[in-house]
Amino acid sequence: MCGIVGYIGNKKATPVLIDGLLCLEYRGYDSAGIATIENDSIKVMKDKGRVNNLYNLEGINDLEGTVGIAHTRWATHGKPSKENSHPHMDNSNTFAVVHNGIIENYSELREFLSKNGYNFLSQTDTEVIPNLIHYYYTNGPVSILENINERFLGAVKSAVNDLKGSYAIEAISPICPNEIIVVRKDSPLVIGKGKSENFIASDIPAILTHTKDFYLLDDNEFAVVSKNKVRFFDNSLIEHNKAIKNIEWDANAAGKDGYEDYMLKEINEQPTAIRETIGSRFKLGEKCSFHDIDITKEYLSSVNRIFFVACGTAWHAGLVGKALMENLCKIPTEVDIASEFRYRNPIIDEHTLCIYISQSGETADTIAALKLAKSHGAKTLAISNVIGSSITREADYSIYTHAGPEIAVASTKAYTSQVALVAILAMYFAEILGTSSESEIEKLKSDLIDLPSKIEQILANTDEIKNFAKKIYTEKDMFFLGRGTDYNVALEGSLKLKEISYIHSEAYAAGELKHGPIALIENGVTVIGIITNPDLVEKSISNIQEVITRGAKTLIITNQIIPNGHFDYVLTIPETNPLISPILSVIPMQLLSYYISKFKGLDVDKPRNLAKSVTVE
Ligand code: AGP
Repeated sequence: MCGIVGYIGNKKATPVLIDGLLCLEYRGYDSAGIATIENDSIKVMKDKGRVNNLYNLEGINDLEGTVGIAHTRWATHGKPSKENSHPHMDNSNTFAVVHNGIIENYSELREFLSKNGYNFLSQTDTEVIPNLIHYYYTNGPVSILENINERFLGAVKSAVNDLKGSYAIEAISPICPNEIIVVRKDSPLVIGKGKSENFIASDIPAILTHTKDFYLLDDNEFAVVSKNKVRFFDNSLIEHNKAIKNIEWDANAAGKDGYEDYMLKEINEQPTAIRETIGSRFKLGEKCSFHDIDITKEYLSSVNRIFFVACGTAWHAGLVGKALMENLCKIPTEVDIASEFRYRNPIIDEHTLCIYISQSGETADTIAALKLAKSHGAKTLAISNVIGSSITREADYSIYTHAGPEIAVASTKAYTSQVALVAILAMYFAEILGTSSESEIEKLKSDLIDLPSKIEQILANTDEIKNFAKKIYTEKDMFFLGRGTDYNVALEGSLKLKEISYIHSEAYAAGELKHGPIALIENGVTVIGIITNPDLVEKSISNIQEVITRGAKTLIITNQIIPNGHFDYVLTIPETNPLISPILSVIPMQLLSYYISKFKGLDVDKPRNLAKSVTVE
């Protein structure tokens, strides 16, 4: 998705803005641009292509301005081009705007503005915003305000009132050269507080090197950012105070720490991520505790159905959540893809608990699905990796994975942390409801506590996976098979391969193969089987043997003793409770996809067409 950055202070804005955009590259983009206030005018430098290309634009080094805004664009309206890049200005070059999100009613707004004498240089939805600001600054009740700062803010508010859709907006003008006006709805925006300078960005890592003190802007909240002060206003432009959040992440945590790629760093951070996520939530011999949610036995006893709702990898974590909730809490549990859930009129009410999983906490479909559930009276619980993210401010309850910033587009440590956190939540509920024996829960707690060291064992022996990757990286098709939670994690393994190696792959419930997909198996096709559930070993082996007899090349990921001699490769991983075995069995598949992508010379951290956070529908 698009990324936005802003700076106001005593330094030249240009290098701060471009550095901020470089930190946002992981979000995926096709164009970049900046605008600074130079004396009494706005200077815009923008083009299609990479952020660093901005330094090649003529005149970029002449920019002295200390107030500026910047943008990386992920095209939604209009192809990648210089004209469609942000920042956009109004026809009189009085206002410059950058925007992350989608203006759904931009066509009618363009029509309205055209009828009022405005014309458009781009195909974007965004270009209506600076022209609307100009329109309200020069027409109607706002235009007669004496105080130009109030007039600028009033014009931005009037313009935003006309917008339908999602937005995080920054606006500057030489009329008010000492401030940046920002506002957001459904797209993220944070303000970093410095000393005689302030920073704005789509997310925390972009400006983390400058400050650890942040204001997390809420939906429909305005801020007027000057270098020594940040003022906050609600949707009626009534001023209010806002608390600062001190964010513990250090700048290195958002860097690569010596790894070649963010993805490899984050795969290797998983032991720590799991330890941090378990944190103080339980100790052996003690009950689980979630101080951040006040869910009572009375409420939980009234719940007759649970939904996990998410997208992509987070949805895969929800699939494992179903097994955990039903086995431990005996509550019927469904798992929905958010973009399906929100349009299928789900049957939910006050007896439904809807759990939303989102690493970024900014996924548009997941947020919309959460709002739908609330409108039906259901309680909503968000699981996110980003403190203060939009979804956590929308949900009734929020709990956090503590995986640290996940920069690579392909989610790894967030997935394993999500599964671990859902396991702890399920145990917490089961302890409240009394639906599982103490010994069963204590055993699962012990298994969870042992996970980080077991992950470290797998990470200490990656040569076998790397060698297998070298044998198969030219393949065009691959299949992942499993039963139960092994099927859930097969889906995740398949997505990892698809999204970073661009190799087509599919995951099937192993027992489903003979109902059609086995027709695709022919000599030399690669099949990866996951076998970790002792109750399903024989059945899973016989499924794998069905593909071997048809010429498939097989890699088995297992923690069971299985007859050798049939399979090309058997990768043994440590044993654990089948309900949380995906946390271990996913590691070899993460590494397999990573090495295949590297052998293919692809951009592992920023795969084509993808964005880290899908903040548009
Ligand atoms: C996973 O590797 C992908 N990057 C993608 O499927 C991602 O999990 C999905 O977009 C959901 O993102 P979220 O967890 O931030 O909501």
